Amino acid sequence: MIDYSKAKKVLQVEHLKQYFNIGKPDEVRAVDDITFDVYQGETFGLVGESGSGKTTTGRAIIHLYEPTSGKIIFNGEDVSKLRTKAQKQKFRRDMQMIFQDPYASLNPRMKVKDIVAEGIDINHLAKNDADRTKQVEDLLETVGLNRDHSSRYPHEFSGGQRQRIGIARALAVQPEFIIADEPISALDVSIQAK
Ligand SMILES: Nc1ncnc2c1ncn2[C@@H]1O[C@H](COP(=O)(O)OP(=O)(O)OP(=O)(O)O)[C@@H](O)[C@H]1O
Ligand SMILES: [Mg+2]
Repeated sequence: MIDYSKAKKVLQVEHLKQYFNIGKPDEVRAVDDITFDVYQGETFGLVGESGSGKTTTGRAIIHLYEPTSGKIIFNGEDVSKLRTKAQKQKFRRDMQMIFQDPYASLNPRMKVKDIVAEGIDINHLAKNDADRTKQVEDLLETVGLNRDHSSRYPHEFSGGQRQRIGIARALAVQPEFIIADEPISALDVSIQAK
């Protein structure tokens, strides 16, 4: 259990509004003024019917969009105000998103090992090639795949397996915060439990 009187707020979403096609006939108010905090060590669930703005909220938090209004504060810093390359790179490592649609989020021309290792490479997290290979194999095992899968391409996998590749990729950089957009609904029950 989290002691909320002592726990640190990792994420603060303050009056977030995320509209699309503003001022046009097809304007969509995908997210319309939501506020919540997520504390260190907490698993926070966002529940709502289809089209209610869950994915949009996640994408706004990792700053794929500029908020229409409101603020997203991660570890005390407004994510819209990260300026230097180093700040942005640190943010992109600390916060990972596992996407709802694993096919759209995996580069079809990259082998699984290179997809999983992309963040390891960018952030120089492997000591050498052998260490990189070991890390990738361990990650694949963690998500219920195996080392033989590492030389294959995304189209050679089932939907559930692709979902696992997305999870391995997110875990690879040891992020502080993970946004999981229904990441396990495509997996079988025993793996969901894991
Ligand atoms: N880029 C976009 N441009 C225009 N409208 C969008 C865009 N992205 C999402 N929307 C709309 O915003 C609303 C919220 O979509 P969102 O994907 O956030 O819902 P969701 O809660 O994740 O739904 P589901 O449970 O089906 O995944 C929907 O009406 C959707 O059509
Ligand atoms: Mg969604």
